[in-house]
This record gives sequence, structure tokens and C-alpha cells, in this order.
Amino acid sequence: MAFPITRHRRLRRTAAMRSLVRETQLSVDDLIYPLFITHGTNVKTEISSMPGVYQVSIDLLKAEIDAVAASGVKAVLLFGLPATKDAVGTSAFVEDGIVQQATRAIKEWAPDLLVVADTCLCEFTDHGHCGMIHHDPRTGNAEIDNDSSLELLVKTAVSQAQAGADIIAPSNMMDGFVSAIREGLDTAGFEMVPIMSYSVKYASAFYGPFREAAQSAPQFGDRKSYQMDPANAREALREAESDVLEGADMLMVKPALAYMDIIRMLKEQYDQPLVAYNVSAEYSMVKAAAANGWIDERAVVLETLTGMKRAGADMIITYHALDAARWLRGQ
Ligand code: PBG
Repeated sequence: MAFPITRHRRLRRTAAMRSLVRETQLSVDDLIYPLFITHGTNVKTEISSMPGVYQVSIDLLKAEIDAVAASGVKAVLLFGLPATKDAVGTSAFVEDGIVQQATRAIKEWAPDLLVVADTCLCEFTDHGHCGMIHHDPRTGNAEIDNDSSLELLVKTAVSQAQAGADIIAPSNMMDGFVSAIREGLDTAGFEMVPIMSYSVKYASAFYGPFREAAQSAPQFGDRKSYQMDPANAREALREAESDVLEGADMLMVKPALAYMDIIRMLKEQYDQPLVAYNVSAEYSMVKAAAANGWIDERAVVLETLTGMKRAGADMIITYHALDAARWLRGQ
């Protein structure tokens, strides 16, 4: 009997050998933790579809921030639940808006913790869309108007930077949002604040639990006229290309799990740091299976996050961040 010439198993025999040849390292430095900040006082409400994730009011936020800082996670992504909503999303860009207040507080408590501000209007508009509603005079149909939305998104980004946000992360999928926001930030004196663009954001069913968490479900229609069709890959390159040309400092693919090919494609094509958003339903599915005792949560989460890095992500936005940080410390 001939011996196998190549024995792949030689490099798999011991834990030390495996770690020596390991190609991908998941680190706490890679993780960004999303927070849902709500108006009101003394609120800490668990999101029913996202066990372990809470809507928290600012007076109770300090404890959350202390926990993040203690975990070693270095960045949080802020979403706001305002007291009032209107057609233009005024609460997104007022000086004492919920995200602006939270940003100021966090920068005071933990100056080194990076605050990433999600720049969108859907949590702040009464219709729940990410841009302005415009009625087509010919058909009377409601559409999401691109260019009038840009003005409001620029105001939002500038007010977030004024409050102290370290990174602006526009998630609205309007055309030209990166250049509009870049110009707005530069004009206001925030030329050093980077833009993490949600470049490739699909119209995904995996955002369901988030819309409960952020109370941002569209009140009519859907987001398919601005977010991407899940069937398209080459279009993702066109989206990323325009963001790069418009000056995006970081690119994002969202969701992550069903779009690993897109993460890999962008990684091969562009040198900007790449972010994967491990979205709400990806989290909820793991939590539900774990609660049923069907999977080993820790192993599944670490395998998933490692897979996203292996696909090409440099950073991962994930609701598992604090747990993953603890598991990576071996606790
Ligand atoms: C806002 C926004 C959404 C998410 C992040 N920013 C929701 C949406 O587009 O409907 C989804 C995040 C998640 O599901 O975890 N536009």
C-alpha cells in the first residue's frame, strides 16, 4: 500500500500546532458594539426578539458604558429612539437629540471609547423611511426623494460630529450621501472625522428584530427602492466604487452571513478597511437556537465571527461583542 504523500493532518495534531498555522485571528479590537438609546428616564427594556439587548435611557447608560469599557471593546455604534417623530426626522439633527446627548455623555465618561454614529432618518421620521417622502405629481405615489434627503442627512452628520462622534456611519443608501456628508463635515470644520459608509446594504429580512429594537419599521411600503436587491453582486462593486470615489474612509457590507461572497469581493477590490455588520436576525437566530439547547452558543458565535474575518472583514459590528470579548479572554 502506498503512503499518502501529503498529510494535512500533520499540522492539526496538537493545539499548539494548530495555533501556529492558524490563518485568521479574531480579536476584541475588531468588534463594534451597537447600543439603542431611548428617551425617558429609568428605562432598560429588553428587546423581546433580541435577548440580552436593551433599549436604555441616558440616566442608565453609564453602567452599560462601564461594561463595554471593561470588556475591552473599543467602539460603540449608537442608535436613537427619540421622544417625537415627524415627517423630516427633526429629532435626528437637533442639538439635544437623543444620539447627540448620548454621545456627549459617553465622551465624558469614557473619552477613549470610539463613538460611531449611525446616520439615518428612519428612527426619527413618522413614516419610518430613511429619506424624505415625495409624491409623484403624475401618479400620486409616494417615493423616497434622494436629493432633499441628503440635506437632512448632512445636518444629522454634522450635529453628531458636533456632539463628539468619532466616526460617522451613514446607513441610508441615498445616492451621493458620502460626498454630501464629507462636504458638510469639512465645511463645519470636521475634516478629520472619518466616514464609515454602509456602502453595500441589502434590502434584507434579517433586519426584522432591529426594527423592533429601534422602532424604525417603514409605515408603508418597503426599502427596496434604496437598499440593494439580495440577488445582486456586481452592483455591490458599483456601490462601493462610488463611495470610494466620494471619499469613504471605510466600507461596509450588511448583512454579513448571507453575503460572505460580497465581503470577499470588496476585500479583493478595495484597500479601505472593511466592516461586516452581523445584523439583528443573525443574532436572534443564534440566541433562539441556543435557548433551545440546540447549539453551543459560544462556539457558534466565535466560529461565525471568525468566518466573517476569514471572508475579508477587518471589523465586525455585532450584538455578540461583549460576550465574544469575554470568550476571547477565555472566561
Ligand atoms: C437604519 C439601520 C438599519 C439597521 C442598521 N441601520 C435598519 C434598516 O435599514 O431597516 C439594521 C441593523 C440590524 O438589523 O441589526 N437604516
